[in-house]
Amino acid sequence: MFPNDRKPALIFVTPSHQFPMGGTLSVKRRLELVEFARKNGCFILEDDYDSEFTYEGFPSNSLFEFDTEHVIYAGTFSKIMFPSLRLGYLVVPNELVLQIRKWKRLSDHHSNSIYQLALMRFIESGDLERHIHRMKRVYKKRRDNLLSLLQVYFGEKVKIYGFNAGMHIVAEFEDIVFTEEIIQHLLKCGIYVVPVEKHSILKGNHSNQIILGYAQLDYEDMVKGLEILKTRLNYS
Ligand SMILES: Cc1ncc(COP(=O)(O)O)c(C=O)c1O
Repeated sequence: MFPNDRKPALIFVTPSHQFPMGGTLSVKRRLELVEFARKNGCFILEDDYDSEFTYEGFPSNSLFEFDTEHVIYAGTFSKIMFPSLRLGYLVVPNELVLQIRKWKRLSDHHSNSIYQLALMRFIESGDLERHIHRMKRVYKKRRDNLLSLLQVYFGEKVKIYGFNAGMHIVAEFEDIVFTEEIIQHLLKCGIYVVPVEKHSILKGNHSNQIILGYAQLDYEDMVKGLEILKTRLNYS
């Protein structure tokens, strides 16, 4: 629940798809969070970085839809387009507009104008929407492939989290600790996996879980990678 003894100035959340475990905040919890911000006079920064790629059902209402005075909504083109574009956007409460414009100017003066113009045309022509629909089909297929291959290779020994949205899942393995040695070995074999531990504040609770990104992988790559993973984890 919410802390009674603290009065934050800002709460940072990823309610559509928590990174890395992939949890989604229910509508009830969203309303409670907004209520907390109202009562305590603080702002919520809603980082909605990949809800365009939601594969089951529909994305929930954003926090910003519930409260336009306490929520700052942040979106990015890093996932729907590509990260090196370095373009994102904020939808902010009226009272913050001038201040945030000033901070943006101070932080990097402005984002690349040509990229912004090109993106504007891409959006206006309807191509961005078509691109998202197409990529959603592609990523969903890759996700489905990965989920079924994990079942084939690891069966009951693997538990999957966070597969409803985004471009990665978390795989939890029975009786395994993903040490730096295992991670480095996998890297040498051409497999880049990130341990969930790397992202946790309290260490020791996620040592048997890894993040598996699938956006770029075709079926054959997945098969190759999972075979190596299975061998390295000594699963028969
Ligand atoms: C939690 C989270 N927020 C935001 C982003 C996007 O960041 P940026 O727009 O700086 O590329 C990512 C990218 O992976 C992310 O994982």
